[in-house]
Amino acid sequence: MSFFATMLFMIKQIIIQHLKEIFKKEFGKDYFDKPFVFDPPKEINADYYTNAAFILAKILKKNINETAKQITTVLNNNKKIKEIIGEIFEQNGFINFKLKDDFIAQNLFTISKNGFFDSIKKIRSANSKRKIIIEYSSPNIAKKMHAGHLRSTIIGDAIKNIFLWLGYKVISWNHIGDWGTQFGKLLYMYKNKYGSKIVQISVEDLEKLYVEFNKMARLDKTLQEKARAQTKQLQAGNKTNVKLWRYFKKISLKEFNKFYKLLDITFDYIIGESFYQKFSPKIVKKALKQKIAIKNQGAVIIPLEKFNLPPLLIQKSDGAFLYSTFDLASLDYRRMKFKPEKIVYVVANEQTLHFEQLFIAAKILGILNEKECQCLHIKFGLLLDESGKKFSTRGGNIVYLENLINDVLKLAFDIVNQKNPSLSEKEKKEIAEIIGIGAIKYNDLSRDRQGDIIFNRKKMLSLEGNSAPYLQYTFVRINSIFKKAGQYRFGQISFTNDLEHYLAVSVLKFPEIILEAANLFKPNILADYLYNLASTFHHYYETSPILLAPSQIKTSRLMLIKAIAQVIKEGLKILGIKTPQKM
Ligand code: ARG
Repeated sequence: MSFFATMLFMIKQIIIQHLKEIFKKEFGKDYFDKPFVFDPPKEINADYYTNAAFILAKILKKNINETAKQITTVLNNNKKIKEIIGEIFEQNGFINFKLKDDFIAQNLFTISKNGFFDSIKKIRSANSKRKIIIEYSSPNIAKKMHAGHLRSTIIGDAIKNIFLWLGYKVISWNHIGDWGTQFGKLLYMYKNKYGSKIVQISVEDLEKLYVEFNKMARLDKTLQEKARAQTKQLQAGNKTNVKLWRYFKKISLKEFNKFYKLLDITFDYIIGESFYQKFSPKIVKKALKQKIAIKNQGAVIIPLEKFNLPPLLIQKSDGAFLYSTFDLASLDYRRMKFKPEKIVYVVANEQTLHFEQLFIAAKILGILNEKECQCLHIKFGLLLDESGKKFSTRGGNIVYLENLINDVLKLAFDIVNQKNPSLSEKEKKEIAEIIGIGAIKYNDLSRDRQGDIIFNRKKMLSLEGNSAPYLQYTFVRINSIFKKAGQYRFGQISFTNDLEHYLAVSVLKFPEIILEAANLFKPNILADYLYNLASTFHHYYETSPILLAPSQIKTSRLMLIKAIAQVIKEGLKILGIKTPQKM
């Protein structure tokens, strides 16, 4: 087997490795602890570049241009580097690399024939012992899911797929809000309206009861006390209350599951906060005993002044445990049971303070040791409606997620109907679902998660812009070229223009893009990459004939676009988006 075929398949990582060795020899030390090899902007005719000259010149107090020249010469004389890189040239202190065509061609050949699986086997097996827990979605029972839960679900699932692709053991976790004082309010209202029996109602009805309670409680000051009594009874195991609570949970989960099915999302663990009730007294006791927590007017708090944070309340004065207590208990449980190297919480920006407090409290309590396990709050912004406002109660009308999704599915159906009227109704519906759900997911995953995003129905379904349907269409288009091409044999790959070189290198960069997306927990790095690949393909296809090219060039081009189609399909799959056969 050739050297190329057996190597670890992340070109950027290979280059970084080589450069580090070479620079260490040349400059006496490895000075690089931060990224120093990057992807150049499109207008620069190179595949990678390094800012090493700037870093070395600064540390060694040398002239930048001279250092750049020195590096270029050393690299040009290095056999290992020259096996991969054809051209090394310096530009304003930056050193650009252009990969060798035959190196690219050989690797592209393998991928076009076998996909990526073989080439990343080593990376996968190296990662196979690494465990990571990813918590996402985490809605609250007796309430409809809201826009924030949608974002968490979509982003969390993509992050899960990214790590799975890299070979990690991923544990996906849904931390359901099913415990707390709101259930006392609900129980009080329910019993008042329906008595102690189970009556067929919907999650919407439950949510209304809750809203009604808050309205009534403003006028009747005794209601809060009555609700507290119901919560107490529930926590003490009162039969009727437990029965009703279970029922609330059942109808809520049934609805969540419908939603997960539509979005094609699964979890390894779905555990409610109630599960941690039994662990909570111990947590509070431990905190008090270690003098990390103090009593404050009957309540228990963990002061965090030292860390410039407000105190964390872990037990109310009526004895009830709360959100923070269950989070501490849950963190402890996850760590003990699974020993993951990371626990990732995909939760909205709004809860930043909570997670800062939680992680520090866990650390000083000795529940969390950062050397063993790293906890991360992976944040995201708001989902806004088309006018840039938060989805919420508008004149008493709550905009429900399912209405949003159904709207998009309807619009997607119209598109399929227009493009392909001869399909059967069933086929149209299936394709519309693939397009519509893909559009909603991609609308989210193509933006930097920390910013707010807009639920723009037209834009997310556009076949021209940066959207899921555009990428899905690219895949379908390449497939249709293959249908027209009929039988073809694998042959040698060669490049006739710069665009082919660029596209081939883009394909080969796929694994390293996923690694980057994983390092930053940013699926939009993958989405950006896919969009750039697809739009470059379209540009290429308009300028370079494929089926009409001379036989050898035709084979080579077919292999190139086959690899592109594979990457688009695989990339979308990682983002949780399916690719249709027709559109
Ligand atoms: N159920 C919470 C909410 O809807 C989100 C839970 C986030 N996860 C956590 N471990 N605190 O706001």
